[in-house]
This record gives sequence, structure tokens and C-alpha cells, in this order.
Amino acid sequence: MKQEYFERKDKELFCEGVSVKAAAEKFGTPLYLYSASHIKERYNNFEEALKGYPHEICYAVKACSNIHILELFAKAGSGFDIVSGCELRRVIDAGGDPRKCVYAGVGKSAEEIKLAVENEILYFGVESVPELERINAIAGKLGKVARVALRANPDVDAHTHDYITTGKSENKFGLTFSQTEEILKNFPKKYPNLEAAGLQIHIGSQITETEPYRTAVLKAAEFVKKLRAQGTELKYFDIGGGLGIVYKDEEPATPAELIKEILPPISELGMTFVCEMGRYMVGNSSVLVTKVEYVKENPDKTFVIVDAAMNDLIRPALYEAYHDIVPVEEKDGTFVCDVVGPVCESGDFFRKDCRLAKVGEGDLLAICSAGAYGFTMSSNYNSRNRAAEVLVEGDEMTLIRKRETYEDQVRNEKTCR
Ligand code: LLP
Repeated sequence: MKQEYFERKDKELFCEGVSVKAAAEKFGTPLYLYSASHIKERYNNFEEALKGYPHEICYAVKACSNIHILELFAKAGSGFDIVSGCELRRVIDAGGDPRKCVYAGVGKSAEEIKLAVENEILYFGVESVPELERINAIAGKLGKVARVALRANPDVDAHTHDYITTGKSENKFGLTFSQTEEILKNFPKKYPNLEAAGLQIHIGSQITETEPYRTAVLKAAEFVKKLRAQGTELKYFDIGGGLGIVYKDEEPATPAELIKEILPPISELGMTFVCEMGRYMVGNSSVLVTKVEYVKENPDKTFVIVDAAMNDLIRPALYEAYHDIVPVEEKDGTFVCDVVGPVCESGDFFRKDCRLAKVGEGDLLAICSAGAYGFTMSSNYNSRNRAAEVLVEGDEMTLIRKRETYEDQVRNEKTCR
């Protein structure tokens, strides 16, 4: 297990000073258990790497949007990268500063734009001309000037999973450099209620090397120079998110290594640096704790059937993503098995043909690196209640989301009668 803040003491797994078994006994399973210290440390790593240079670190809320987790970021002074009106509302509820929010996404609704303009967010990451027109009209009606950063697609391959690469020209995201250039010509005349504030790029997720970032930043920096020659000055240079973490044996670049590679071309332009990391901040802050319900021996295979399922953590089913699985209490011996959930789909697996400690009914397992795109992508499929979330700091644990109940699930259906 390669998550800092999760370690074994006397054969038992601990999250900071809290026994994972004790947390499971208190709050039940499946349970997302988060380390607050890990999150704080990760945020600080970026702050350190950017020290002395004008910057805004905007945590990508979509990775893990629990209000208590957002509060940790808000208290550290973080900004936020949001993709919906409700993400903005979560940030505000958590005490975050809406004026430090950058808002991405190809399909912002009029209602969402209104909310963001009213709250004076830092800027909209704009992805199309119709969107620009809509924001301009709404800002005009509200008597405000809204800042926008144009999201340019640098057409760079981030060497990551096809579903999470975003910076290639065939992806739905962003505008080409020439479209962006066209938009910025005569901008104040065409869009009197908008201020062109920045350029944004985002090339994908779980990127472990610095090279794709550097290529994209160099391309974008050249483009900024061209815009300057045409009289357009932009303040913010937003590199998006995407820095990878260790799931198995990856050796991702550190923030210090990344910033060292990409800051020089940005500082040469004198622009404020913005990044929108999600996974890096929270991915390894959490494990999904689950209980073994049955061990089923088929002629060809052994299945360890656990009480968490694809509805709790969909990444293995959706991306064939690797998540390490370790026993909460060490066991003697191992066996080869599939770790699967109770959902009625063959895709409901966490690991296949893996060598696992010889666990049995009632034993606890920790599914590792579950902090990013874990709970936020969970659902009620098979009418399963979503898991509880607990935040640990030192030897204190706080329930930050109650386990759902049947009543929670059907509340809105019952009101339709
Ligand atoms: N900024 C923008 C505009 C984004 O679209 C994303 C993620 C981020 C920042 C944060 O990226 P991160 O630092 O977390 O890589 N569900 C997938 C990941 C989808 C990422 C979507 N966009 C997964 O489970 O791997």
C-alpha cells in the first residue's frame, strides 16, 4: 500500500491515528475514509512550488466534492475549479470564496451562468462562441462585467486513458487556437459585458510526465505572444488539472518538478499562473473500506464478494482502472481471486485474478486510492444506498456524510404522488 497517512501498526491498518477497523465498526461499511493531513500536505506542495510567483490554485471540486473536504481547501486559501451551479453552491456552503472560482464545462445553462455572474467568480472557462454570447447577454442583463478565459485545445496527447484525455483536437473540449484568435479580435466591441481575462488549457487526467504539459504550455505561450502582437493582453495562464498519482507503480512528477518545467515560459509573459488539480489533491487521501460477505469457490475461480460495488466506485468497471486492495487486518496465506460486488453485472468487479490475503466472511478490505472520482461518481444503481464518508485528522474521526437510507433514496419519488 502506497498511501501516505495509511500504515500498518501491529498488523492492523491505520488512517493517521485511527484504526480502520474501529472506524468500520463505528460507521459501518462500505465507508470512504479520508485523511485530512494528506489533503493539506498535497495542497501545500503546490503552494510551496509556486511560492513567490503570482498564482491561484483552484482545486477541482469534481474529484471529491464533500463540503467538509472543500472546507479544508477553503481554509488553506484555495480557489476552486467548478463545472456546475451546484458545485459553486457547495463551495459557497463550505466557506470558499466564489471570486476564486473558475468555471469550466461545455454545457453551462443560463441558470448556472446567472448564479456564477451574480457571485462574481474569477472567470468562466469558455468553450464555444454560443456560450460566450450567452454569458455576455446574461452579464448585460445583470449589469455586470463577467471575466472569461478562453479554453484553447492545444492538440497534445497526454498519454493517458482515452476516456480522460481532453487536449486532442478530436475531443469535445475547447476551441482551436485560430478560433480563439478570431474571437479575441474586436472582443470589447462584440462582447461589451465580458472581459477577456485569460487563456486556459487542460490536456487530460492522470498525467504522470511533465513533457505533455511542457509541450502544451509552450504552444499556448507562443499563442499568447501572437495575441499580444495583435493588442490583446490576457492576465491568467491556466494549465488546467491532470497531475497523476500512484495507483500501482507509477512514478508521477511532483508539483515542484512540474512547476520547474512549465513556469519559465509563463513567467516570461508575466501572467498569473492558475492550475486546477483534483486527483493529485485527494486521490490518495482515501480508501474505500468494505466487508467480505461471502467467499464463493467456483471450479475455475474464487470470488471474494464484498459489500461495496460498482455503484460505490465505478473506476475499475468504467476505465479498467487499477485500485490496490489490502486486508485491514493482516492474514496468514494468500489466494488468487476476483474481488466483486453484489450488483447484477459482470462489470461489477474491483480486481480480477489478483493475489489477495486469505480473507473470509466478515473480514475487512481497503480498496486503495479511492479519494478522487470515487464517491463523486457513485450512484444508487440497484437501489443501493450510497456509502458514508468519514474524515480523519490525527486520532479524531468525523462523519462528514451519513450513510444514505431507503428514505433518502425515495424522498423525491414520494413527493410526486
Ligand atoms: N480542469 C478541468 C477543466 C477538468 O476537466 C478536470 C477533470 C480537472 C481540471 C481536474 O483533473 P484532475 O486533476 O483531477 O486530473 N473520472 C475520471 C477523471 C475525469 C476528469 C475530468 N476532468 C477518472 O476517474 O479518472
